Amino acid sequence: MFSNKTDGPRRGRSFDSINQYEEKQLNNEIQENQDKILSSKREHAAVIFSLKNEVGNLVKALKLFQENQVKLLHIESRRSRSSNSELEVLVNCDSEQETLNEIIQLLKKQTNTVIMDTEILCSVEDDLPEEPWFPRKISDLDKCANRVLMYGSALDADHPGFKDNLYRKRRKYFADLAMNYKHGDPIPRVEFTEEEVRTWGVVFRELNKLYPTHACREYMCNLPLLSQHCGYREDNIPQLEDVSRFLREQTGFTIRPVAGYLSPRDFLAGLAFRVFHCTQYIRHSSAPLYTPEPDTCHELLGHVPLLAEPSFAQFSQELGLASLGASDDAVQKLATCYFFTVEFGLCKQEGKLRAYGAGLLSSISELQHALSGNAKILPFEPETTCRQECLITTFQDVYFMSESFEEAKVRMREFAKTIWRPFTVRYNPYTQSVCVLKDMPSINSVVEELRHELDIVGDALHRLHKHLGI
Ligand SMILES: [Fe+2]
Repeated sequence: MFSNKTDGPRRGRSFDSINQYEEKQLNNEIQENQDKILSSKREHAAVIFSLKNEVGNLVKALKLFQENQVKLLHIESRRSRSSNSELEVLVNCDSEQETLNEIIQLLKKQTNTVIMDTEILCSVEDDLPEEPWFPRKISDLDKCANRVLMYGSALDADHPGFKDNLYRKRRKYFADLAMNYKHGDPIPRVEFTEEEVRTWGVVFRELNKLYPTHACREYMCNLPLLSQHCGYREDNIPQLEDVSRFLREQTGFTIRPVAGYLSPRDFLAGLAFRVFHCTQYIRHSSAPLYTPEPDTCHELLGHVPLLAEPSFAQFSQELGLASLGASDDAVQKLATCYFFTVEFGLCKQEGKLRAYGAGLLSSISELQHALSGNAKILPFEPETTCRQECLITTFQDVYFMSESFEEAKVRMREFAKTIWRPFTVRYNPYTQSVCVLKDMPSINSVVEELRHELDIVGDALHRLHKHLGI
């Protein structure tokens, strides 16, 4: 369901001609867009001119701006120092460069009007509001990874481990490990207690009974790899460092330990850098099949197998990128979409309903409920899904299903475009940083990169063409 299926080569054209055709189309499109942007580029400009100080002359001059729909920002006039019969006028305006040139030509034609100076003060883009702070590089996550909202080392009164002092002490140990972690550090290896391994074992065993009939295909493909490379076993709790290394090789995702719940904004920001904030503690042994908060069973069994899937990793990162610098309202909507996809999402494979959400894949009772035929299931439509209430301590009222994972990605992408931001961001995997695209130089650098990428594709197709003798 979440495959990277493509349409394959089109009939009637060779690989080379497809490439040349598409490259030409892309180049045309890029050129057209650049021309459009350049021709519509607005400037803040100052125009200084002098005219005979006669009734109606100033009005006549200013009318030229009005007739060309140019917004005047500021007007000043003074008697000319060189001639008492002349007036010097300064006009600050907001105009497209082309229109401004036309007005200047018309002003010059006006009787007694002499252009003394014109100056472009700044591009209008420079006046865009400053974007709010958000992490620009992966190490910036150090600044937000410790803003834990719930639990950490303190537990609520209704937490199963609230009255267990040993458990609380243990939670403080895990919270300290996470709080002291800095980007680039290896994730500390933990010696889990026998009790913790037993608790993990119960969850692992019971969930594994359900996976073949409840988990999506991609989950089932990746789970054996995790057993092979990261020690996923009933009698062993995998180490986050091993899992992080494995994920980096599969999809570029890495893991960062966290003490508890982060705000949606901080959590989503991590995804933008392909960083998954992950708890390392285990739920309380008195209730192995229930946890009121994410624990390492939820992260390792629910999230990790799908983070090893390229298309899912891409989907997760795009959600994160869309959240950077977005308004609180927009982040809330994105977080709700995250909740009903990455945490509680369903998909259809070979006509059967399957789970890909981590909240389901780590909860025996809710996984059974969601696929029982009794749960309410609606199609995933971000515009409506983002308004659904997220329930934390009970089953969800409704689950959202996508026909395919690609479909969910496309819908999220379209939805993200509707979120207002005066800029676009792009992830640079070489520097693990986010570039803000809000002016022509930054956009042009992306265009250059795309041209280079396209050259590589062209070269590859050319060689294939030759090799196949087509
Ligand atoms: Fe989760």
